[in-house]
Amino acid sequence: MTDDNRSKRKVRVRDFARLKEAGEPIAMVTAYDALFASLVDQAGVDAVLVGDSLTTVLCAEDTTLGATMDQMIYHGRLVCRGAKRALVVVDMPFMSYQVSPEDAVRNAGRIMKETGAGAVKLEGGREVAPAVERMVAAGIPVMGHLGFTPQSVHSIGGARVQGRAEGAVEGLIRDAQAVEAAGAFSILLELMVGGVAQQVTQALSVPVVGIGAGPHCDGQLLILHDLLGLNEGFNPRFLKHYARLGEEVRSAVGRYAAEVRQRLYPGEEHVHSA
Ligand code: KIV
Repeated sequence: MTDDNRSKRKVRVRDFARLKEAGEPIAMVTAYDALFASLVDQAGVDAVLVGDSLTTVLCAEDTTLGATMDQMIYHGRLVCRGAKRALVVVDMPFMSYQVSPEDAVRNAGRIMKETGAGAVKLEGGREVAPAVERMVAAGIPVMGHLGFTPQSVHSIGGARVQGRAEGAVEGLIRDAQAVEAAGAFSILLELMVGGVAQQVTQALSVPVVGIGAGPHCDGQLLILHDLLGLNEGFNPRFLKHYARLGEEVRSAVGRYAAEVRQRLYPGEEHVHSA
């Protein structure tokens, strides 16, 4: 797809495959509200993830485990209102798909119906393949998520880079191939040794998007608040700051408060006349 086409047409899941085929990297970011969704959409990203990371990024929770269906649907709907062109993918929250494939279809169906999103994402490998198969059969596009899977943070033992253990590569490839065979249109790899992510990517036909998984994936995802420098305490090796908005916000609001206290704001030009 050319940059020109990229700027006009609504992105669909099949465009992910086209981008991979054309060797064009997929650019994806998170957003949780209509305003930021509209801005990143205008910036021309291919896809927006409404991540369950909203619990940690917006709500200052320690993990993503507390995200609810109602939260994901509410924020998904806001993002769909703002993102006119980019593909919107909404995360399925913890325990909305793990219990049974029936649960997974019902909850994914609610997300699709009540948000207007183009796809959902869920975490896991072989164990979620039956759920993915049922969801895809019901007409729901599914993105997989392997590597560090934040909903399993307690069993993994923290946000640990994946792919270092003996035999890990083979296990990851088997998991990724199971999710692909179940019908996922794309797979996200999070926090993974670069060479391992490369091998997983090469073992799949569907596009692979990475976050903290090196340069050899078919696309990249970053959390918007991280790349904008709003989440100042979070500085992992893989993160690149494209702005320092935390500093900007403190400075702007500090100047505003000082001007209020000095009676400099509002000035004459801000006063409504009769
Ligand atoms: O919830 C999220 O934003 C995610 C990314 C961190 C991969 O799943």
